[in-house]
Amino acid sequence: MEPLRRETAGQAYGVVLEVGAGTGLNFSFYNPEKVERLEAIEPDTAMLRYARQRLATAGIPITLTQAAVEDLPFDDSTFDCVVATLVFCSVTDPERGLREIMRVLKPGGTFSMVEHVRSQGSIASRVQDMITPITRLVSGNCHWNRDTARKVAAVGFQIKQKRDLSGILLPQIVLKATR
Ligand SMILES: C[S@@+](CC[C@H](N)C(=O)[O-])C[C@H]1O[C@@H](n2cnc3c(N)ncnc32)[C@H](O)[C@@H]1O
Repeated sequence: MEPLRRETAGQAYGVVLEVGAGTGLNFSFYNPEKVERLEAIEPDTAMLRYARQRLATAGIPITLTQAAVEDLPFDDSTFDCVVATLVFCSVTDPERGLREIMRVLKPGGTFSMVEHVRSQGSIASRVQDMITPITRLVSGNCHWNRDTARKVAAVGFQIKQKRDLSGILLPQIVLKATR
């Protein structure tokens, strides 16, 4: 994940929101010369505790808030960039979360994500459909079968770049979109 964190968090600029920050593994990748401040949200109390310990690894001001992406505690058009890494597989209502990101992003702002997604192969995607009830149970609501890029486009983002990374049952995408 390190090169992918560098490619997403590392390229963020201005006032940045990170959704689903987890234990804060992206914090050290933000560039102090480009990022004015970071708002990081995470709904899970245990993850937040670890994330708090990682604040010191960052060279930028970070505010950590307990919140879900479906209900962001920020005004409209607040952020230059929004970053999400490995989050939308487990969000309860991804469409609502993506609409919230659209709302808080400034016009022309950048949304960068890395996600594992639905396979493009018909056999692999059927296997993903079969595995997903188990991964949801054992891995924090993680869906192996979500077509996240399609959802991003469906809520109205303009997809500027999309790179598909190989993986039969866990293919990943690196995506940059704008409002
Ligand atoms: C696999 S972890 C990834 C953490 C971190 N982004 C990273 O790259 O290391 C998924 C994270 O998404 C968070 N998450 C799940 N549902 C969420 C939601 N509705 N809103 C925001 N974050 C959510 C989880 O609590 C968890 O921290």
